[in-house]
Amino acid sequence: MSNKPFNRIVRSWDEFWAEFWRIRLVGGDDAAEFKSEQVVDFCWKVLGIKKNQKVLDIACGAGFQAVLLAERGATVHGVDITPVLIKHAKKLAKQRKVPATFEVQDMRELKVKEQYDHVLVLGMSFGFGTDEENARSIKLMADAVKPGGKLLITGQHPYALANHLGPEWLECDEGILLHRADFDPERCRLGGSWELACPDGTIIMEGENPEQDGIRCYTYPEIKSLLEGSGLVDVQGYGAWYTPPQPLQWFSMEMIVTAYKPKRSV
Ligand SMILES: C[S@@+](CC[C@H](N)C(=O)[O-])C[C@H]1O[C@@H](n2cnc3c(N)ncnc32)[C@H](O)[C@@H]1O
Repeated sequence: MSNKPFNRIVRSWDEFWAEFWRIRLVGGDDAAEFKSEQVVDFCWKVLGIKKNQKVLDIACGAGFQAVLLAERGATVHGVDITPVLIKHAKKLAKQRKVPATFEVQDMRELKVKEQYDHVLVLGMSFGFGTDEENARSIKLMADAVKPGGKLLITGQHPYALANHLGPEWLECDEGILLHRADFDPERCRLGGSWELACPDGTIIMEGENPEQDGIRCYTYPEIKSLLEGSGLVDVQGYGAWYTPPQPLQWFSMEMIVTAYKPKRSV
């Protein structure tokens, strides 16, 4: 065996995570596409989304779910902090001939021009900020919901952390993609990093990124209290994207939380 040291290269978040992982690998994966369809089906049925209703997809990533929602007839606007993903989402909407719109936005400073019938945060994307930023985000999200509308957010379920803590790996054309997870119990944050080990001994690592402080793993009562504190009611938790809906359990792989904005403030 050669003793040649590994050649470590840092690639930007846009190039390594967004373009390579999110767009190329996830975008070309049948299982991920099936899951996106399942997620959209759940949102459509459980939230009761109707054709022509306005939907805001926050942290929409490469636009996979937003485009599927638009194909069902919703009027969708997607926002995400990563410009490369927004560019891809726009291209995807054009390819699929749906009028979904997208823009770069940071959910911690969310600004909307109108209110929406449904506001979604999919793909365990709630919790990347500090506790103060996350609480503010929830308030901004709740403000973006029309009275009579609903907010659905997905977070990292703290009781199901064991599912995410082991090292994961995936073989792809370029080499082996490795994921290392790390949990900080004092801050209740799950972090991790991706590396691509190439056959020539090069290790490609991700550079600075908006998720490098990990994700705050809120318990269900914490999220419920943030939602209720923002004027939402009828908070419900679900544990999977299947329909009929599954209750949230300690072992559920997902934590999906919905809340309703009353027509008159409570
Ligand atoms: C796990 S991905 C989920 C993407 C998409 N919702 C899905 O389910 O495929 C998390 C997304 O959150 C975005 N993100 C991270 N921090 C953000 C922030 N402060 N504001 C908006 N988007 C953010 C990332 O760019 C990334 O696209």
